Amino acid sequence: MIRVLCILGVLLAGCIDTSTIDPLERQPKYVPYAANPFFADGRAMRTPPPSTVPRERAVLRPEFTAGKDAQGDVVNAIPIPVTRALMTLGRKYFEIRCATCHGLVGDGVSLVATQMSLRPPPSLLRNKNTGPGHVYQVITGGYGLMASYAAELNPEERWAVIAYLQALQRSQGAQLADAPPDVRAQLLKESSP
Ligand code: HEC
Repeated sequence: MIRVLCILGVLLAGCIDTSTIDPLERQPKYVPYAANPFFADGRAMRTPPPSTVPRERAVLRPEFTAGKDAQGDVVNAIPIPVTRALMTLGRKYFEIRCATCHGLVGDGVSLVATQMSLRPPPSLLRNKNTGPGHVYQVITGGYGLMASYAAELNPEERWAVIAYLQALQRSQGAQLADAPPDVRAQLLKESSP
């Protein structure tokens, strides 16, 4: 019985109002959007001074932030180093943000696609116009019926998605000869019954 109570206690801990046990949550403070008569506008939240930019925001790098060079031309290469970490990030965000419509391997096969009769999401593997800079514009500003994903993905995450998309384009429909010799031997071994 005690064991059952203990397990129940652990399971229900998430449902309890934690302010009963956590004094920090009970301390006097202003929560976001609360009123505060101390300020003339009656609001607790302060407007940042004009022209303030977040410290994390990348500026003066249009090829990274806008996918365009200083002349305003769309870039044709990924402007940051393509590392394994970037690829892993790209896979994560491609699968969360893009695969729902364009399919897990980018071939346009998804449940959502079967329901989009007006203009189904195209395969991104055979699309002739999928240069990195163009895809960056599509993610940032949307394209036709596709919405912008600028609010969901910051510039680095967008380039990561593009790097992963390039890997998908190379891997889907790749020939055995495209693999390095050691990987080739491994693949042959795996495919033989
Ligand atoms: C809600 C479904 C949906 C999601 C999610 C989605 N797309 Fe799309 N996408 C579409 C549709 C529909 C089109 C075709 C739009 C048109 O032609 O009007 C499209 C078109 C495209 C194109 C082709 C543009 C061209 O030049 O032909 C690219 C590239 C693309 N999407 C990339 C992405 C990427 C990358 C993501 C993830 C960040 C993504 N899409 C997420 C539905 C989606």
